[in-house]
Amino acid sequence: MPEIAVLAGDYIGPEIMTAALKIFEAAQKVTQTTYTIKAYPFGGAAIDQTGSPLPEATLQGAKAADAVLLAAIGGPKWDQATERPEAGLLKLRKALNLFANIRPTKIPANLADASPLKREIAENTDFVIARELTSGIYFGQRYLKSEEAADTMFYSKTEIKRLLVTAFEMAQNRKKHVTVVDKANVLASSKLWRQVAQVVAMDYPEVTLDFEYVDAASMKIITQPTQFDVIATSNLFGDILSDEAASITGSIGTIASESKGVSGPNLYEPIHGSAPDIAGQGIANPISMINSVTMMLINTFQDTKTAGVIQQALDQTIAQGILTPDFGGTATTAVMTAAIINSIEKAAPSYV
Ligand code: NAD
Ligand code: IPM
Ligand code: MN
Repeated sequence: MPEIAVLAGDYIGPEIMTAALKIFEAAQKVTQTTYTIKAYPFGGAAIDQTGSPLPEATLQGAKAADAVLLAAIGGPKWDQATERPEAGLLKLRKALNLFANIRPTKIPANLADASPLKREIAENTDFVIARELTSGIYFGQRYLKSEEAADTMFYSKTEIKRLLVTAFEMAQNRKKHVTVVDKANVLASSKLWRQVAQVVAMDYPEVTLDFEYVDAASMKIITQPTQFDVIATSNLFGDILSDEAASITGSIGTIASESKGVSGPNLYEPIHGSAPDIAGQGIANPISMINSVTMMLINTFQDTKTAGVIQQALDQTIAQGILTPDFGGTATTAVMTAAIINSIEKAAPSYV
């Protein structure tokens, strides 16, 4: 039986995880599939229970699973912790060797009005950010002294190449365009990215390649978002640009991501954080978590049937305007979840 390691995490993490798992359960009944769910403490919740954001049992559980489903970790409660929840997340990504993080931004015509951008700019936006996830400034040497501090943006050719190969492979099956986003007018590591990209591109003659500096790219994401297909970029730039990209869909609360390694389980998680400002109010948008489940079902388990049941019910619910406040609605997380489950149950006979 397929096994999923579930890490609910902190603040709105458990709220959206509970919602998505209830929906997943309803869909499994319809498609008569069974997935084993094993929950582990992670992040701040794990610090409270064990003193560590990534307890050994959680790491082993994640390694042994077929996929890892994570909600979100971190928050003010642990900002002064010796080892913060965020450090646990970086350790997990490194331990599972999840070097590529895929973050899609899509604005279908029927959701273009949810965008803060003008419809003519936003509609038909469809690009993915391939973010390098286990190196760069997040993992380079750092120190903090009383009078000075440093963070090093290190990249090896191998690390750049494997991310770029992932990006070109994706582009090959999409709109056949890769944009490498960097700061090659200043940074040495960016210059190496450009060199490696020119070489990798030779293996993909159908895919066009261009380069953008990160400052200009951040402007283009809001002025000409339809120009992009696959953005390949380093860890830090990918982190920043993906929140910006998410915001043009109307809410960061809708975007899922997939983190892939060489072998072993992939990890699926919303790109946003634990949203401490709205936690406990029951209004967190569960769509990012639901999309993480469907992404997992399709990419890890090739279970397009169960994913389709969830997707269709989610689409119907969105079409009925049952949305949380961040997406312009008045529904609570529970109301939206119930509506999706209701839609799954109504559609059930047509699937048997
Ligand atoms: P955040 O992404 O948690 O929140 C930013 C804004 O988006 C907030 O106003 C929040 O209410 C809103 N938002 C996010 N998700 C939402 C949802 N599903 N529904 C409705 N609104 C939503 O970013 P932050 O406030 O800067 O960070 C909070 C904590 O989360 C920090 O500790 C940070 O380190 C952590 N974090 C964790 C992850 C992760 O677990 N992968 C990712 C990003 C940030
Ligand atoms: C994300 C988050 C993390 C990151 C933090 C929590 C370490 O912002 O997943 O986007 O910077 O990678
Ligand atoms: Mn981020």
